[in-house]
Amino acid sequence: MDTSIAKNVSVNRGVFTTTLGAVVATLGSAVGLGNIWKFPYVTGENGGAAFLIVYVACTLLVGLPVMIAEITMGRKARANAVTTMERVTENRKQPWWLIGALGATAAFVIMAFYSEVAGWVYAYVFKAFGGEVLSTNPEVTGKIFGDLVSDPVQSLLWQWIVLILMSVIIVLGVTKGIERATKFMIPSLFVMVLIVAARSLTLDGGATAQGLSFLFKPDFSKITAEAVLVAMGLAFFKLSVGMGCMITYGSYWQSDQNIPVKTTLIMFSDLIVSLLAGLAIFPAVYAFGFEPSAGPSLLFITIPAVFASMPMGQLFMVLFFILTAFAANGAMLSLIEVPVAFLSERFNLTRLKATLLTTGLLALTGSTAALSSSTLANFKPFGKTMFDLFDYLSSNIMLPVGGLFIAIFVGWVWGRKNLEAELSNQGALQNKGLVSAFYFVLRFITPVLVVVILLSGLGVF
Ligand code: TRP
Repeated sequence: MDTSIAKNVSVNRGVFTTTLGAVVATLGSAVGLGNIWKFPYVTGENGGAAFLIVYVACTLLVGLPVMIAEITMGRKARANAVTTMERVTENRKQPWWLIGALGATAAFVIMAFYSEVAGWVYAYVFKAFGGEVLSTNPEVTGKIFGDLVSDPVQSLLWQWIVLILMSVIIVLGVTKGIERATKFMIPSLFVMVLIVAARSLTLDGGATAQGLSFLFKPDFSKITAEAVLVAMGLAFFKLSVGMGCMITYGSYWQSDQNIPVKTTLIMFSDLIVSLLAGLAIFPAVYAFGFEPSAGPSLLFITIPAVFASMPMGQLFMVLFFILTAFAANGAMLSLIEVPVAFLSERFNLTRLKATLLTTGLLALTGSTAALSSSTLANFKPFGKTMFDLFDYLSSNIMLPVGGLFIAIFVGWVWGRKNLEAELSNQGALQNKGLVSAFYFVLRFITPVLVVVILLSGLGVF
């Protein structure tokens, strides 16, 4: 391959050639296991509707503003996260590039458990083919999942299959292919989740009512400071913000795109996919006697029961897990790209070397997450298995800290003039009022919320 591209970011940089391309590709990073796996399980663990309200508030007041900030800087600087932060910092003595470096580190922490969950999804494609997983009995589906995660060989194997596949795609740099695949994958996933939700909602009237009230009838007594932190962490995780991923994607956006409008559209689409996943899972939870608070296993033990009670359920289940795997792949590629772009550009490594280094390290750290339910089940630093620790650390600490500094930088250091110029596309868009409102939120609301939620959630006050 042409290494000059990797070495010098300003030469031959790609752009998303159409508006749809930029929106869909960015949506491809946002939509993933976060919607299908994480959103239902953390909502289930934290009591449902009240948590959902806090999550939506965090998305609007924290996630979306940071997303706009990231995309704006990336599009302005047109470079990887670290280089972007250097380029937008006027005072070269200030180390804002550290935001990019923290982001590249966060990518490892997230990928460590994300690649394992993706491995389970891959495994379930084959389990669905086999058919025996299609059962409405919680004990049967629970045992099948338990057997998978408590088998160290299978856990490692599936994770490594995921990592090898991701490496191949990243090295080949098939961005065009990814863009094309995403364009077809996201609408298909949407339709698929809609079908599953429709089936789940019609399983049994009583269960539907229970599922809906769990998801939409708030009981605020269930909200603790830690639940609020988890909701904010989910908002960061869902929109892929707080670690430079959106800086990188923003650097491929064209200069005439309306950032506030497009990011809001992306945020809403992402939220709808999550809500549909919730509607697919919670009625089924009550219909078949599962526990809403089952944790990370929730998707894998509940969803097969919905397919088991559907005509052609086996076929639909295969398709569902294939589409979920595609969504996970799109998200993982955007995660891996952050350290790979940084390593290759900063240390003049070829993309091949940067990728091998990244995925090699990922296989090492990730194995500790993969073995969390078997060999390392009793290894619990800070009272959490490695899997839970990586999950907690990234969403609830690293992304909020990264997002906090991004908000502070754009709101207080980069300044209104730069922001206004970039968000109005150098005056082409008449959106002064909107930009003022956004600037206010980014300066005064987002950072304060992040600090308060972070410190109270961690029990500092
Ligand atoms: N948003 C993706 C999901 O919901 C995961 C993801 C991709 C991500 N890139 C990220 C999370 C960057 C945090 C930061 O599955």
